[in-house]
Amino acid sequence: MTTCDRSQNLVPDLNGWCRDRACDPILDQDICCVPAAFCDGMQCLPGYVSKLNAAEIQCPNSICFPDSDRDLCCEQQGLCSDLPYTSADCATGTYFNFDALCQQKQCNNVTDLWTCCQPAMRCDLGLNCSHGYVEKPEYAETYCLAPDCNLLDHLLVCCDPAAPCSDITCGHGYYQLSDTYCSGTSCNETLDFDHCCLDSATCSTLADQSCPYGYWFDSPERCVRDPCVDSDRFPGDCCKPSEPCASLTCPHGSVYKTNYASLTCLLDVCNMTIDLDRCCDVAAHCDTLDCGHGYTPDPTANDTYCPATSCDINRDRDLCCEAAPLCATAFTCPHGFTPWPDTYCDGIFCDDTRDRDICCRPAMSCTALACPLNYVTRFDAYCDGISCDFTRDLNWCCERGMALMYYKFVPLDLRQSGYTVVQMSDFYIYNQQVEVDGFDQAVFYCDPCNTPVNGQEDPPNLGDGNGDTKWLDYTMNPFFVRIPSPQPIFSYSFVTGNDEPIRDPWLWQLWGSPNSVDWVILHEVSDPNHNLVPLERKTSTGQISIEVPCFSPMQVHISNAANITCEEGDLIRHNTNCTPVCEEGFTADLDSLLCQAGELTPALFACA
Ligand SMILES: *[C@@H]1O[C@H](CO)[C@@H](O)[C@H](O)[C@H]1NC(C)=O
Ligand SMILES: *[C@@H]1O[C@H](CO)[C@@H](O)[C@H](O)[C@H]1NC(C)=O
Ligand SMILES: *[C@@H]1O[C@H](CO)[C@@H](O)[C@H](O)[C@H]1NC(C)=O
Ligand SMILES: *[C@@H]1O[C@H](CO)[C@@H](O)[C@H](O)[C@H]1NC(C)=O
Ligand SMILES: *[C@@H]1O[C@H](CO)[C@@H](O)[C@H](O)[C@H]1NC(C)=O
Ligand SMILES: *[C@@H]1O[C@H](CO)[C@@H](O)[C@H](O)[C@H]1NC(C)=O
Repeated sequence: MTTCDRSQNLVPDLNGWCRDRACDPILDQDICCVPAAFCDGMQCLPGYVSKLNAAEIQCPNSICFPDSDRDLCCEQQGLCSDLPYTSADCATGTYFNFDALCQQKQCNNVTDLWTCCQPAMRCDLGLNCSHGYVEKPEYAETYCLAPDCNLLDHLLVCCDPAAPCSDITCGHGYYQLSDTYCSGTSCNETLDFDHCCLDSATCSTLADQSCPYGYWFDSPERCVRDPCVDSDRFPGDCCKPSEPCASLTCPHGSVYKTNYASLTCLLDVCNMTIDLDRCCDVAAHCDTLDCGHGYTPDPTANDTYCPATSCDINRDRDLCCEAAPLCATAFTCPHGFTPWPDTYCDGIFCDDTRDRDICCRPAMSCTALACPLNYVTRFDAYCDGISCDFTRDLNWCCERGMALMYYKFVPLDLRQSGYTVVQMSDFYIYNQQVEVDGFDQAVFYCDPCNTPVNGQEDPPNLGDGNGDTKWLDYTMNPFFVRIPSPQPIFSYSFVTGNDEPIRDPWLWQLWGSPNSVDWVILHEVSDPNHNLVPLERKTSTGQISIEVPCFSPMQVHISNAANITCEEGDLIRHNTNCTPVCEEGFTADLDSLLCQAGELTPALFACA
């Protein structure tokens, strides 16, 4: 239709239909020409709003078209960013959307605040704090200033950086992984320990548990982390330094090994049971040391050890040994022995039994020495050495005396003077303090005899050592004793008879003879005032000393002397004189020589 009266604001009805297939410009005007539409019936395109007077604006057609009529009917909405607001001006839970549109072209600073403040998203609904961050305390009441939360923009709105686990010191046996965080902005050891600190593996999980010398494997120890690696073993903590041997005190009887300074015990603490053999050697006992000449083991060192595995004489002598006593000063050799020179006793004190053969050797008997005239070999005497030396040993081995074989006891009177029946139980002769050698084989006899005829009281009873048997002679005849070999005597004794004290000898003589031909008086009791003979029966007189007689000088020593050099014979009694005799035609130079205790004074005379 082109015929609508535009002056009447009539326009073809774009939605209407003519009466026929072809419109009749005149006839159809009544149904096809309609008033033009007003803008207020049209919806503006987004971003636009109807003009305030839209009801008064007519579109060119019966229908307003949002596109073509946009500028006729609508105006662009203002942008929220035109307003002087920020999210701070919005209510909680909303944010100021600068990109939003105001309701009208002109933003209204009052009404559009509600338009521009749009719902924001709450942190707890829209954002999970990323690794290393923790929700802020007010997380659930905090909003991202946007319709949606996103990590890029809102992480720090909703979340705080978490404190790193490294703020916690886990301590020995634990380890931390990098990039791990506590559950808060600061670490709370109680809360965070378990996830920040992980158990390290124990050394025992290592397959190779060997350690170098000087270290020990500490199984319960922790590795640096889990699992263990070989470097945790050594030089790591699994192999721990052992305690040096120097910390162990080697016990009595042992010594440090020589290289102990470089040795260690098995474990961290030295243990005597385990480490004794590692650190110490058995010390040598003092008794393994030969103390050497002049020294003897110290008896108090029986529990003493040398400070090494073997003893050394130079180092250890003072420790183990004592100076031994010199035999020469500390040991007296017993009778019959003579000292070894330069010998020491085998102990700190000399012992008579133990050391005799060390300190002494058998001496040679004095019988090896020929004693000169008027001397006899001292009984049971030894030379002062292993052989006899005449010069040295003469005075010791030989003494004045006369070795005789025959002895004769001559009763002169009895306890009851004038009585004639003499008796005696036993009779003894002595060389020094002991009975003469062979006394048990001595022969006792009488000649003449006047003993009881029954033969029960003959002289042999004198030698039987039995006090119940006796010798009895009715007329005081002497009795004789013959010993097996010539010996000197120095004393004699007799034992009283079993009864009748009146029969005891009271005055008597004892004679000696080398040959039963020449006799000399050895002792005489001639003064009745004595108490030699006990009144008690079968009782000994005790030893009575004799006087030593002299031999006459030997003719061989005196030129021109007579065969018998003394007028008194070959035997001169003690304290009597020898009267010298020369061959015919010669005269002695002396009148007499005095015999005293076996010695003539002077010893010789001369014939001229
Ligand atoms: C809003 O605009 C009016 C007029 O332009 C002004 O007078 C008023 O101060 C404004 N208010 C705010 C809160 O900006
Ligand atoms: C936050 O985490 C929860 C639980 O894992 C999950 O269900 C949710 O979808 C996550 N939210 C966002 C925004 O990723
Ligand atoms: C750490 O956490 C424990 C358990 O929640 C709490 O009792 C303690 O007070 C906290 N310590 C500190 C220093 O915050
Ligand atoms: C030393 O080692 C032994 C044997 O292993 C043990 O019985 C003892 O208790 C240890 N002593 C100390 C003081 O550790
Ligand atoms: C070591 O000597 C002391 C005294 O000197 C003695 O008491 C101890 O019994 C002796 N020990 C041994 C084992 O001989
Ligand atoms: C003295 O001795 C010599 C030689 O032995 C001998 O010829 C002489 O008859 C002896 N004289 C006397 C008186 O015995």
